[in-house]
Amino acid sequence: MRIKVIAGNWKMHKTIEEAKSLARGLAERVGRPFSQGCVAIFPPFTALSEVKRIIEKSSIKLGAQNLFWEEEGAFTGEISAKMLKDVGCSFVIIGHSERRKYFSETDEIVNKKLKSALSFDLTPIVCVGETLEEREESSTFRIIEEQIRGAFKDIPEDSALKVIIAYEPVWAIGTGKVASPSQAQEVHQFIRELLEKLYSKELAQNILILYGGSVNPENIEGLISQEDIDGALVGGASLKLEAFSLIVEKSIKA
Ligand code: PGA
Repeated sequence: MRIKVIAGNWKMHKTIEEAKSLARGLAERVGRPFSQGCVAIFPPFTALSEVKRIIEKSSIKLGAQNLFWEEEGAFTGEISAKMLKDVGCSFVIIGHSERRKYFSETDEIVNKKLKSALSFDLTPIVCVGETLEEREESSTFRIIEEQIRGAFKDIPEDSALKVIIAYEPVWAIGTGKVASPSQAQEVHQFIRELLEKLYSKELAQNILILYGGSVNPENIEGLISQEDIDGALVGGASLKLEAFSLIVEKSIKA
């Protein structure tokens, strides 16, 4: 059985003090162990170390929002998988649509980052998703297939199984326009079928696929009840203690 994962992507929000305060609240409210699920938070780099200290004794996992694929060297401004392990991360988001859009990340870059994360035993959350324009011209499946094939290029099955995929339609991110449960389910099912072709039925049935894009406490139940939706990557609502806790509580049974 696949577990549920609820991930909070804080993006470029929160000072260290603000991050500590939210982390403290989350550790109290949703920091107990869940047998059927996992909660992970993704603060900005500057707050990782302090947040780690706060959630250490809880079951909440720490993740980073990005990484660079080299281990170390003259790459000013970059952070490696090795450094993320060092600060206590166990997860990392790769290929978020904001990185693809504002920092020109390609599927090739996503693939390099994915290999690096896997080699350091970080659990990667790889984001895929179509823009509004692509959906309107009925290219959704083609785009998703390209992104998945590109991300997983030359990744063997035993490593691929450790990857979490997040389907995040670009038109639903930060817009308040959530995909309907059936729209999301359709793409999640497509991704599973594609992975069965690329790898095996076993991998396709076991890999976790999260939905992301305007998830909130009101719409989570409809999404999470879909057969192929294994959790959520939450942006805006993850910045608020009450909203994120409710999303966790409605998704994962203790
Ligand atoms: P949102 O962001 O929940 O604010 O739409 C989701 C994401 O970007 O991961």
